[in-house]
Amino acid sequence: MADARQAERDYFSNEPPPKDLTANVTLAREFIARHDHDRRRVVLVTSGGTTVPLEAQTVRYIDNFSAGTRGATSAEYFLRHGYAVIFLHRQFSLLPYSRHYSHNTRSFLDYMRDEDGRVVVDEQHQQDMLEVLRQYTQVKREGRLLILSFVTITEYLWDLREVAQLMRPLGPRAMFYLAAAVSDFFVPRDRMVEHKIQSNEEFAVTNESSDGTAPAAAARTEGRKLVIDLEPVPKFLKQLVDGWAPDGIIVSFKLETDPSILVKKAKYALEKYSHHLVIGNLLNTRKWEVVFVSKMEGFSEKWIRVPANRRTKSFSGVPSLVGSADLSAKEAASEPSQS
Ligand code: PMT
Repeated sequence: MADARQAERDYFSNEPPPKDLTANVTLAREFIARHDHDRRRVVLVTSGGTTVPLEAQTVRYIDNFSAGTRGATSAEYFLRHGYAVIFLHRQFSLLPYSRHYSHNTRSFLDYMRDEDGRVVVDEQHQQDMLEVLRQYTQVKREGRLLILSFVTITEYLWDLREVAQLMRPLGPRAMFYLAAAVSDFFVPRDRMVEHKIQSNEEFAVTNESSDGTAPAAAARTEGRKLVIDLEPVPKFLKQLVDGWAPDGIIVSFKLETDPSILVKKAKYALEKYSHHLVIGNLLNTRKWEVVFVSKMEGFSEKWIRVPANRRTKSFSGVPSLVGSADLSAKEAASEPSQS
């Protein structure tokens, strides 16, 4: 615990906060206070992948896989079940509701037609779009969705920490649903070059001082090679559970590509961080099946699978899996999706 606290102190004192942090905190504080007043449950859904910039003036970066489908879809489920949702997502990844019309091979203009000089939705899409629009309008009217964004791992972690601490007074009415794909390795600010890394040795610059005391740039050219030497990102799940939101309900995701280690790693995460639920998924089957591992169920694994005949969904994406009034993370995580 002391190590985790020290790692947190080091990270946040070395990595500068994002420019929009103050604005995000102001919005989140007002949102949380309003819903706390109404005794509503508030969930922070994180979604999309974080990036690791290689240069301060960033031209190149390392990205983490995630379109934001899981997060955006799950947010809709939480909203249908009365939660207030803070949607902390990677800029330009999928958003709740608009996801039905974005990021696919059709342009949103393909849903429209010109009717005597007026833009109208094409007949075949009217019903589906109306249904999505009604849900979206209701959520907006009730002020139950706050959308915040990040790009880099550092922006994500600053926002996560600040919002989590603001949610602390909610106690168990606060939920953290961590679907974002979070970088495990990064370039610390003091080892980051300012300008675009040059491939031509003649123009290459390094951070190294002439006496060799300054740390070498984490991403640099050596000869004609690009050498990238990343450092581990501290595991902030520990801090979330123990320090930032000790009474909140915490659900983390585990993404793997090797089926033989998925459950093992989900159990390991649960034991190590002592939170409530790990939802495991495999890259190739993530849209159809997830595995739940929770302490409540004695660390046993429970697979949730979308039947083969339901693996395409209606255009509107209105979840037919949801039958009960109470939303569970199980429902939120098992929506089949189109992107
Ligand atoms: O958006 P889609 O395309 O639909 O894809 C969804 C998804 C596959 C990205 C999603 O379902 C998913 O699995 N997200 C989590 C991926 C991930 O980052 O797994 P991980 O093994 O790197 O991290 C596991 C947990 O540790 C995460 O909850 C993360 O919040 C936490 N973590 C990670 C890194 C870090 N430095 N500190 C952490 O606390």
